[in-house]
Amino acid sequence: MKLEDIRRDYLSQQLNRKDLAEHPIDQFERWFDVAKLAELSADPTAMVIATADKHGRISQRVVLLKSFDEQGFVFYTNLHSKKARQLAENPHCSAHFAWLPLERQVAIEGSVEFLSDAENAAYFASRPRASQIAAWASQQSETISDRATLDAHYQQREEEFAGQAQIPLPPFWGGIRLRPDYIEFWQGRASRLHDRFSYALNDTAEWQLSRLQP
Ligand SMILES: Cc1cc2nc3c(=O)[nH]c(=O)nc-3n(C[C@H](O)[C@H](O)[C@H](O)COP(=O)(O)O)c2cc1C
Repeated sequence: MKLEDIRRDYLSQQLNRKDLAEHPIDQFERWFDVAKLAELSADPTAMVIATADKHGRISQRVVLLKSFDEQGFVFYTNLHSKKARQLAENPHCSAHFAWLPLERQVAIEGSVEFLSDAENAAYFASRPRASQIAAWASQQSETISDRATLDAHYQQREEEFAGQAQIPLPPFWGGIRLRPDYIEFWQGRASRLHDRFSYALNDTAEWQLSRLQP
């Protein structure tokens, strides 16, 4: 089949205003629970994060969502990485979930804050030891000559921490919270007349719900 002929109609569900939660985080939770239960992917918490540098040049990558609530959506990363450096100079961020077998997507926009040392330490302590060592071993987003050098960095760190029950939090590793000011829910419908609803924070910090044209 020619690429341009690959398409389908979205027929399985509808999204109606009366079914929507008042708060977008409640609505997100409903859809996220459905997506998790549907086992669409081996990584149900994976989301694409878009960041931009101070000139507006955008980059994207997958990270794992580790928690969410009214405050925002939290992921963890190397704080010297490209994404973290971009977010330090330009806090605008977008997250995207594509739940295509459910004919759904969610797009989140806002700006970020960096978690405190205490929050970072608490989450870091919960990670598997090998992931903790890897966090020390990798200068994320920097170039490296070959795989053997990376493996050697890991081994060096493993030996360094061999006698220690707890591996300390690297000072260059932590959580980032995307504080949303806009969340959009998309449900595919027949003939490209999809259902789209956006929640946007207004000047008085209330969520304004709108239906968008598809
Ligand atoms: C399924 C999956 C999950 C990932 N989870 C994370 C994560 O939680 N944190 C992270 O820093 N990178 C994660 N990565 C790697 C990132 O996509 C990316 O390669 C890395 O963070 C470097 O991005 P940057 O150079 O744009 O900063 C994950 C990749 C995949 C495919």
